[in-house]
Parts: sequence; C-alpha cells; structure tokens
Amino acid sequence: MSLLEMRNIVKEFPGVRALDGVSFTLDRGEFHALVGENGAGKSTLMKVLSGVYPEGTFEGDILVDDQPSHFKGIRDSEAAGIAIIFQELSLVKELTVGENIFLGKEPSKFGVINWSELYHKASNLLRDLRLPIDPRVKVGSLGIGQQQLVEIAKALSQDAKILVLDEPTAALTESEVETLFGILRDLLARGVGMIYISHKLDEVFEMSDRITVLRDGKTVSTHQAKEITKDGIIAAMVGREVGDIFPIPDHKLGEVALKITGLTAFSIDNPDKKLVDGVSFEVKQGEVLGIAGLMGAGRSELLMSIFGAWQGGFSRSIEIGGRPATISSPSDAISKGVGFVTEDRKRFGLILEQTILDNMTLAGLQKISGRFVTNRTRETMAAKGPMRSLRIKANSPLTVAGTLSGGNQQKVVLGKWLLTNPKVLFLDEPTRGIDVGAKQEIYAEINKLAKEGLAIVLVSSELPEVLGLSDRIIVLHEGRMTGEFTRSEATPEKVMSAATGH
Ligand SMILES: Nc1ncnc2c1ncn2[C@@H]1O[C@H](COP(=O)(O)OP(=O)(O)OP(=O)(O)O)[C@@H](O)[C@H]1O
Ligand SMILES: [Mg+2]
Repeated sequence: MSLLEMRNIVKEFPGVRALDGVSFTLDRGEFHALVGENGAGKSTLMKVLSGVYPEGTFEGDILVDDQPSHFKGIRDSEAAGIAIIFQELSLVKELTVGENIFLGKEPSKFGVINWSELYHKASNLLRDLRLPIDPRVKVGSLGIGQQQLVEIAKALSQDAKILVLDEPTAALTESEVETLFGILRDLLARGVGMIYISHKLDEVFEMSDRITVLRDGKTVSTHQAKEITKDGIIAAMVGREVGDIFPIPDHKLGEVALKITGLTAFSIDNPDKKLVDGVSFEVKQGEVLGIAGLMGAGRSELLMSIFGAWQGGFSRSIEIGGRPATISSPSDAISKGVGFVTEDRKRFGLILEQTILDNMTLAGLQKISGRFVTNRTRETMAAKGPMRSLRIKANSPLTVAGTLSGGNQQKVVLGKWLLTNPKVLFLDEPTRGIDVGAKQEIYAEINKLAKEGLAIVLVSSELPEVLGLSDRIIVLHEGRMTGEFTRSEATPEKVMSAATGH
C-alpha cells in the first residue's frame, strides 16, 4: 500500500503536452526526488497533485492511502494532508511573516482574528525551526533566502503527511540547508512522505531513498538512490552523457572596461550599517571577474550600488572605458553599456504576464528599434537569436513568460540583457534553478561573450561555478575585500578561507 499513487497523468496546455502519461508513487517516510531538465514537467506534476490544476483539467488518477482523490483546489489537497512549497515564492509581500504563515487559517475567536495568538504561534514555529526571523516584519523587507525559509515554515505549519518541496534550497546558505534537512529528517522519521525537486544533485543523493527522472513529460526511470551514480542520473535527464561542463577559457584581455573605487553601501533598515565597505576593483574587456563570498557578504549590494539600483545609501566612483562616469539610475547604467541579470528574476527581471518577446525587448527596445518606432518584425527576429542560442523551450517568442518553466524564465532574463549589447555585464546567480544541460549551455555562452570582448562580473554561491568560469576572483567577507586570486592561484580552500574571514 502506497501513501500516494499517481497513475498515467496527462496534462496539456495550449500547444504543449506538459505531462504525457506520468506515473509516480510515494511511501510513508520516504524521500523521493523528482529530477529532470528545465521544462520536463516536474512543477506541473506537483501542481496536479496539489489541486492547483483541479480535477477535470488533467487525465489520470491520484490515490492517497489507496483512496481516489478528487481535488477541486488547493484547499482540498491540504485537507487530504498534502502541503506544497512552490518553486516561485507565493508569499504576499505586503503582509507580515506571521500573517503569511497563517493566511486563510488565522486563529480567531468569535470571528475576530486573535493577533496575539497568531504571532505567538508564529514565533514558536519559527523558533522550533531555528529560524531567526521576526514574525512581525513584512515579508517584502526580507531577502530572498529568508523569504524562502518563511515559505517552508508556512508549509510545515500544516500537519502534512505528504510534503512537496519544489526547489526549496535555491536561495539558502549551506547552514540553512543543513537546518532544513535536519527538520526534514525528523518529519521522515515520523512517517511523512516527501517529494523533492532540485537541480542540486548532491542534495538529492544526500537525502533520497528513490529518484525518478522525467524528460519531456514522460517518466524515464525510477532508481533506488543507492544503486545509481550522479553521472547516471544526469545521463537519464539529458538523454546523453555530459562531459566536463565548464568551457576552457582562452580570453584575450583588453583595456579596463569598468573601474570602481571606494564603494560603500549602507543597510536600508539601518543607515549607519555598512554592508559593503570601501571595495575597489576593475574588470577588463574580455575578462570574467568572479565575486565569491558567503550569503550576506555584500555581493549583490555591490552590484546593485554600481548599477544605481541599491535602495539604501551608497557612494563610489566609477570609470567606464577609462573615463569618469556617473550612474544615478539603472536606465543611466543601461545607456552607458552596463547590463544586469539579477538574482531575483521576479522582482527585477521578468514581467510574468508579458510575452518572451516583450520581456526581451524591454531593456533593448531602443537599440533594436531605432529611437522612436518599434518594429515588431525586427524585434521578433532579434528575440529568436537568444531563444535559439540559449535553447529556451517555448513554441514562439509570443509565449507568455509566466507559462515557461522556472529555468526557462531565467534564460529569458539573460537573453533580454544580451539584446542590449552591453559592454559590461553583471550576472548575479545566473544559473539558479537551471538544469545541468542548460547550465553547460549558459557557461558556454558566458565564455563566448567574454571571448567577444565583453567584461563580465559574476556572482555565484556555487563555488565550482566561480572557479570554473572566472579569469580572476575577488572575495568578500562582511562587506570587505579579503582576497584576490588569479585563475591559476584560486583553489576552493583558499577562496573559502578568504570568504570566512581567515
Ligand atoms: N501555465 C502554463 N501554460 C502553458 N504552458 C505551461 C504552463 N505551465 C507549464 N507549461 C509548460 O509545461 C512544460 C513543463 O513545465 P514545468 O514548469 O512543469 O517544468 P519543470 O520540470 O518544473 O522545469 P524547471 O526545472 O525549469 O522548473 C514546459 O514546456 C512549460 O513551458
Ligand atoms: Mg519547475
């Protein structure tokens, strides 16, 4: 008897067969990972399970404890003991952490919400989870990593017997991941079954009992985790062997493209607190400069301040192409040839309701269309270039961005900046949520852009990525620069030791 059985699920969207007869089972206390390339159908399968796509909008059967289930919406799946943590954060930014956790199930007395009990329960929950988050602050004021932890707390607040986690660790630090896994192990021991979606195969292997691979809406295979290797899983995902995923860089460095002196940035909440403290660096044409550091080291703040997008106070002097430059806003930065792929694609990168075409041409509109007229044909042609080179999985440039899989949305953001023909490109966590095959493509693209003379500044929490792509690496620790290494000098140990302040 399985805890959960999904039989022959078929789900179609206009023009896309996202699930083509997928079957899947889950046992009590089992950790079952679901992996596959971007667009394989993982999130869609979980939306079917959780009633986001109600009965009647898909084919196939769902059985919980051998009982056929007919979910008309999320409420029904919750009532059946299914909790889901969505890939795209679904918190309401204007509400507090506590309000979000208990949204729709606020403790109340005589129809009036009991606020003190709500916050009391919320702070107990956060404490149990060892999350140092104040339940009374607005979710919108938290960083993306903390928002993700609140999302997890929200799911755990329901007493679920099936817990679905869709890329829950994308924005978490290593220690936050360990905290999360500790909590999950407790729940597994209590018999909760878990479905875990991730592109981080190390995590998948650390936790899984079984691993199921999806490709193009079909189940490729299900494995006992003990009986398969990482390379085996990757080959099943991609449908071919994947060799070394990093290109061999042979960049010719040119003139200094961007020079930053004395960059200091202050906290938004606490205007006296320095998040970045007197950092200076330069990057040359054709160079990939990696910025390493732990979460909270000030890397994103650094890029945002240069770009004129940081909401707190900041100061710095800038030279572009050897000449002093002022950048007072993102549009200023764009007009001076600086592009920025941000880490939070929802907040800065992508308008989900618009088409791929509109998204891609937002920043690049002027360059592609001449100054005043917009030429749809020319735009459509231009957008097809990056769609092809980045292998964006969509029927046409007119597909709405919000209907793309998570990884493909990230590729649209990258494509959009490539169309602005920047001289300097900032990449903040460019491969978050991206599958191995597509990562390899994005790495090749980064390498090609550098070869063509673009100056690239890369921030990534994945150390292998920084080491594998950068010509030079600077390391930040608590806002200060604590190390600088050339490609040949850099080792994981040296970079980590600088990142932890040793
Ligand atoms: N609402 C929708 N409308 C139209 N097409 C959709 C919709 N949601 C998903 N799709 C399509 O269904 C396919 C599967 O998408 P899904 O989001 O399930 O992929 P995924 O495996 O979760 O990928 P990722 O690793 O990138 O998150 C994709 O081709 C996607 O574009
Ligand atoms: Mg997904």
